[in-house]
Amino acid sequence: MSAAENEPKAGDITRGAQSWAENCMRCHNMRDPREFRDDLWKPIVTHMRVRAGLTGQEARDILAFIQNSN
Ligand code: HEC
Repeated sequence: MSAAENEPKAGDITRGAQSWAENCMRCHNMRDPREFRDDLWKPIVTHMRVRAGLTGQEARDILAFIQNSN
């Protein structure tokens, strides 16, 4: 029996970098990951997830990428 395949996977940094490039500069300039602390990025990405219409997985990937880049 494999671990539940429907369970959310941890954020993937490589996918996150791509989703970030594809989604996060549609409406405004690319924001510097160092602009905010990790704990502040979490609510921001949640907020932007709604604006950008991202899936939960895409949002987790992007958050992982950001938190790894600052
Ligand atoms: C559909 C348009 C849209 C998309 C796509 C979008 N944003 Fe935004 N973003 C906005 C708008 C509008 C604001 C300013 C008003 C607000 O905060 O709602 C904003 C503000 C921000 C801010 C500033 C928040 C603050 O507190 O100063 C950050 C950081 C940010 N976005 C990051 C992102 C990231 C990361 C992504 C990709 C996941 C993203 N945005 C995608 C529209 C968008």
